[in-house]
Amino acid sequence: MVTNATGTTLVCLGPSSGFEVRPILRRKPAAGEIEVAVAAASVNPIDVRRAQGYGRRLLSLVGAGRFPMILGNDFAGIVTALGDSVDAFKIGDRVYGVKPPSADGTHASHVLVKAAHVLPARAGQDLQALAALPYSFVTMWLAVRGAGLTRQNAAGKRVLIHGAAGGLGTLTLQMMSAWGACVTAIARPHDFAACRDAGALEMVDSNSKPFATLSRTFDATLNFAAWDDDLALIGALRDGALGHATTVHPLLANFDELGWARGVLKTLSDRHRHSAALPKNGRYVWTVFKPEILALQELRGLVEQRRVGLPIAVREPLAGVAQAFDHVNKGRRGRALILPG
Ligand SMILES: NC(=O)c1ccc[n+]([C@@H]2O[C@H](COP(=O)([O-])OP(=O)(O)OC[C@H]3O[C@@H](n4cnc5c(N)ncnc54)[C@H](OP(=O)(O)O)[C@@H]3O)[C@@H](O)[C@H]2O)c1
Repeated sequence: MVTNATGTTLVCLGPSSGFEVRPILRRKPAAGEIEVAVAAASVNPIDVRRAQGYGRRLLSLVGAGRFPMILGNDFAGIVTALGDSVDAFKIGDRVYGVKPPSADGTHASHVLVKAAHVLPARAGQDLQALAALPYSFVTMWLAVRGAGLTRQNAAGKRVLIHGAAGGLGTLTLQMMSAWGACVTAIARPHDFAACRDAGALEMVDSNSKPFATLSRTFDATLNFAAWDDDLALIGALRDGALGHATTVHPLLANFDELGWARGVLKTLSDRHRHSAALPKNGRYVWTVFKPEILALQELRGLVEQRRVGLPIAVREPLAGVAQAFDHVNKGRRGRALILPG
């Protein structure tokens, strides 16, 4: 139901049409939802790609494929309204969390979100620092679990991460270090120090065509960098390894480029080709972001222990969206935030 209260959103009009800041009438939260006044929301690589039309066919199944749309999957801010049956929060609470892909994302002054996908922020925790984490953390947690690693079994496991200096990679290094795994990071030499600080024990130079020389000694491998390198990473798993997960699979692109029928066939064939290269009983997962309560609980614990964080390089108001998207599009270091307030 619409209220008399107003807000502002950043509407993505289409690949060649850019963005528009628009006023909106806010809606009342439904049962189980809360409304949050957004202090900060991340611009993630998926936002940049969706703004260019990526994923439109498959995401249309969840109402997230058509322009105009509001992008953004995570946020931090202040609770401004409560739906029925919400007792975990009260108005004025500081919170952070995630929202599933939709056409009604978090790049807005106010968002409606499921209370179950929201975490409380303690007094003194910086909301901008928190806003950079939830989407990337939940995705990397899904990848880590997809590859077969858990908090209980990770100690001493040899884990190889491609794209270790990026957002997902850095958070994985931090969580794997907290879980006691022994991580080898594939990254560029100018990122080696940051990877070591985040918890990597060994470094491999991604510029040096490293895959031919990697030994088959890893318990789990994670690909956050390039689909073209996926088979080579699987080839670094030892016999009896747990498995491999990738976030850079061609699922959305297959359907965008080939349509429904050929998209299914290409996806099955891509997955089969890579699964066939796994050691016996190894797991193989194409990670797809979705809100995951266990991941959010892990995030909350690590935030409270100050074990996770990402450098933030760009902070822009809604009207500065072009700079924030340009930063992410160019693959520059550090996360970009939109500050709608
Ligand atoms: N499937 C899903 O649901 C999902 C969800 C979240 C993210 N993702 C995807 O997962 C990937 C990682 O996300 P992120 O937020 O961590 O991105 P990010 O911060 O941009 O980091 C990506 C990292 O991968 C490295 N990299 C990229 N291409 C490479 C290549 N060809 N060779 C070697 N290194 C390469 C980059 O290094 P350089 O900058 O030095 O090139 C960077 O360190 C992105 O592609 C993102 O779109 C997918």
